Amino acid sequence: MMIETLDIESCATEYENKGPADILRFAYSQFDNVAISFSGAEDVVLIDIASKIKPDPLVFSLDTGRLHAETYRLLEQVREYYQIELEVLSPDAAQLGAFVKNKGLYSFYKDGHKECCGIRKLAPLRRKLMTIDAWVTGQRKDQSPTRTNVRVMEADAAFSTDDHHLYKFNPLANWSSERVWRYIRENDVPYNELHNKGYISIGCEPCTRPVLPNQHEREGRWWWEEETKKECGLHAGNLG
Ligand code: ADX
Ligand code: SF4
Repeated sequence: MMIETLDIESCATEYENKGPADILRFAYSQFDNVAISFSGAEDVVLIDIASKIKPDPLVFSLDTGRLHAETYRLLEQVREYYQIELEVLSPDAAQLGAFVKNKGLYSFYKDGHKECCGIRKLAPLRRKLMTIDAWVTGQRKDQSPTRTNVRVMEADAAFSTDDHHLYKFNPLANWSSERVWRYIRENDVPYNELHNKGYISIGCEPCTRPVLPNQHEREGRWWWEEETKKECGLHAGNLG
């Protein structure tokens, strides 16, 4: 249930300098139906923090069918470690089947990732978001030039409809990668084995590669595309 008079802009200003635990606590105090969107990468810290606030937090992952084996293993490890019912969402079989039949399995290298991400991530996400009041993401300002203005909470203009007002919480917006990794180490949080192999930002297997020292983490994602277009639609609002 949403609090109708919530002034999210003012709340975002009030919480701008607070930590992820305070932001999550606030989200849970305002809404009944809040779900964490977990990619299988370092955003596992959100689950760690949430499970210290609330038993059995709602968590979902978008299984594109193209994730690394290491990521699938982490999803299962996280499910067991935190004793949560991690919901794994799949693309629509008919839509995906038609797309692959028509364009094959690697069309994104030729004509961009938008169509494939649209079917494998965006459509299942949209369906899920219709059933909840607010979602929680691991977006951070330091992740990408497209994310420098991410706020700790916002009305989600991209996925709200006339009948359904959706809110988005980004509790890690102001944490650096260094801060996230300090948390993971200090709290013995399970993490994706790919991080031991030079990967920083992790998405689908064909669209993710490790980066070299001092390369920006986003250079390992959709490397054949321009920096400013590297949003798959999940966070399309960042592109303005
Ligand atoms: S992406 O849009 O470029 O793929 P990124 O990998 O940086 O996003 O992750 C940012 C946040 O988006 C994650 O912390 C998570 O909340 C959400 N997200 C990204 N991919 C997934 C996924 N496969 N399943 C669920 N949430 C995801
Ligand atoms: Fe498809 Fe690549 Fe997008 Fe995954 S990241 S849904 S494989 S285009």
